[in-house]
Amino acid sequence: MEVRYVSNSLEDTKKLALMIGKNLFRGSVISLNGDLGAGKTTFTQSLALSLGIEDKVSSPTFNILKCYFDGSMPFYHIDAYRLEDGTNANIGLEEVIEGDGVCVIEWGQFIKEMVFEPLDIQIKILDNNSREFVITSNFSKYDVIMEDLKEICR
Ligand SMILES: Nc1ncnc2c1ncn2[C@@H]1O[C@H](COP(=O)(O)OP(=O)(O)OP(=O)(O)O)[C@@H](O)[C@H]1O
Ligand SMILES: [Mg+2]
Repeated sequence: MEVRYVSNSLEDTKKLALMIGKNLFRGSVISLNGDLGAGKTTFTQSLALSLGIEDKVSSPTFNILKCYFDGSMPFYHIDAYRLEDGTNANIGLEEVIEGDGVCVIEWGQFIKEMVFEPLDIQIKILDNNSREFVITSNFSKYDVIMEDLKEICR
């Protein structure tokens, strides 16, 4: 199943993230892909907000993994950009992917052999302020999310 959403502002992107975020559950994994500056981190910040996380969510590029425990469930934010060449970070990513909380992976395609059942989100830059989000689900556990999205997507 696939839906598309065009965001013309930061507010639009936040609206999409909050709508997805409210249906996330322990073990859900979001694989985010799209060019540099597409909006993966920006989107992730609003997802974190939807779980009630107040700690500032920033890009984990240099840490690969950041964990947040002040929300309704654990929130794991991975940036796989530096794992593109197939190096294994050996920092226990397997444990947090499909683990006891929500896991969001920027550049998820780079570690796809570690991610079994993701909700895939591809972000495309349309112009300065506009982005297209293509959300693809191949797993029934994301049906509630996909169903809800029909309201704002095409
Ligand atoms: N509609 C929009 N939705 C999201 N971000 C937008 C939008 N319009 C403009 N932007 C801007 O695009 C930039 C997105 O940066 P962000 O760091 O989130 O991208 P990224 O995909 O995480 O990049 P990287 O690959 O470097 O990690 C921000 O400066 C943000 O303000
Ligand atoms: Mg980023």
